[in-house]
Amino acid sequence: MNKKPTQARDLFASKFGVIAAAAGSAVGLGNIWKFPYITGVYGGGAFLFVYLGFIALIGLPVMLSEFSIGRRARSNAFGAFKKLAPGSPWKFVGMLGVAAAFMILAFYGVVAGWSIDYVIKALSNSFASKSPGELETMFVNFTELPLTPVLYQLFFMILTMAIVIVGVKDGIEKYAKFLMPLLVLIIIVLGLRAVTLEGASEGLKFLFYPDFSKLTAEGVLSALGHAFFSLSLGMGTLITYGSYVSDKNNLTKTAVQVTIADTIIAILAGIAIFPAVFAFGIEPDKGAGLVFITLPNVFQQMPGGYFFSILFFLLLTVAALTSSISILEVVVAYFKEELKIKRRTATIISTVLISIVGLFCSLSMGILGEYKFFNLNFFDLLDWISANMLLPLGGLFISLFVGWYLGKDKIQEELSKGSVVIKPVLTVFIFLVRFIAPVAIAIVFLNGIEVLNFG
Ligand code: PFF
Repeated sequence: MNKKPTQARDLFASKFGVIAAAAGSAVGLGNIWKFPYITGVYGGGAFLFVYLGFIALIGLPVMLSEFSIGRRARSNAFGAFKKLAPGSPWKFVGMLGVAAAFMILAFYGVVAGWSIDYVIKALSNSFASKSPGELETMFVNFTELPLTPVLYQLFFMILTMAIVIVGVKDGIEKYAKFLMPLLVLIIIVLGLRAVTLEGASEGLKFLFYPDFSKLTAEGVLSALGHAFFSLSLGMGTLITYGSYVSDKNNLTKTAVQVTIADTIIAILAGIAIFPAVFAFGIEPDKGAGLVFITLPNVFQQMPGGYFFSILFFLLLTVAALTSSISILEVVVAYFKEELKIKRRTATIISTVLISIVGLFCSLSMGILGEYKFFNLNFFDLLDWISANMLLPLGGLFISLFVGWYLGKDKIQEELSKGSVVIKPVLTVFIFLVRFIAPVAIAIVFLNGIEVLNFG
């Protein structure tokens, strides 16, 4: 075991393990379910263009900030701020993160549960010869049920718990190392299938050709929110994972690799989805139902669709699992270290509490659907608040903390563990977290909030 006698903290055992776990966190439902549909809603290439800008200028520096905070403090998201800035209010940033983890995993588990159900539907060939209307009814009727989706969600939460309960090296790292290569393989197969369909080029054009007329302020805020969501930033997930990274690892390189991997997989998901959607003459702006309504329609018309539909929903489930373990770990590490309880107890308590909030998310698709907040049901509310408010706000504070509170010298010390710091890289990084990231987040955030009327 890699335990330190004084802290008894578990560490990731290998460099590949760190990348697999962090990329596993980043690559998830966000890439495969959310990215394609919001890209569709906000006009394709123009959204992608802004999103990529946010990833490079804000996402990457915030990721490196989170890793640095985590490894330096060797503590959970809340404890890390407490350790590095004792007696100051910075710890509330960690608190905000733990709250965001609760909200995100609550609705995330619901969608992951749907994915499992759709693996089974795909296996039993349930999409065959159904009209688009019938496929829509099938999805809507299923999500509105009071019991079945809840059971799938619970099953998924138990899977997540089973991995996290074992620990960092023997649970999270071990499964990520096996599941991530599988995920990459599946998405490449699906992408190849989609681009070799007749009429695929329209879909590629939609994804890559920027038409800025469709990009609203709300779209720009969604691009920012999604950059955070997709890279698992702003709530201390990568602070928590960073706290398990050995001093031998090069943090800068890891952050760059994880950011690139996440972005390539989101684009690959777009390549697997849009060409197929356009090839069958379907409109891409189908919202959250894109992968559960539109894609089954695509699969049932596509040669080999039975096989590809199973692969696709399996991909979605695997991607969800490697992310959900990272979200649960934020809460588990917090409970374990702050309440000084065993990992086992902390994992069970966290899973139960999050599943209860998740239950309400699931029911808000059906029997609790009439309860609206700002015109959103409970599920959409948690999604919106966490992705578009808590994560960017968390990111804002994290970049301010690193840029202004910790400062250049401490960061240089942290980044030079396991690597040689290249001076211009450090200068650019500090400039981005001091000025660019906070100002850009604040502007986009205020603009987005102002134009909001919640439908
Ligand atoms: N990055 C994950 C995805 O794209 O699906 C979701 C996520 C995981 C968000 C962890 C936030 C987080 F802290």
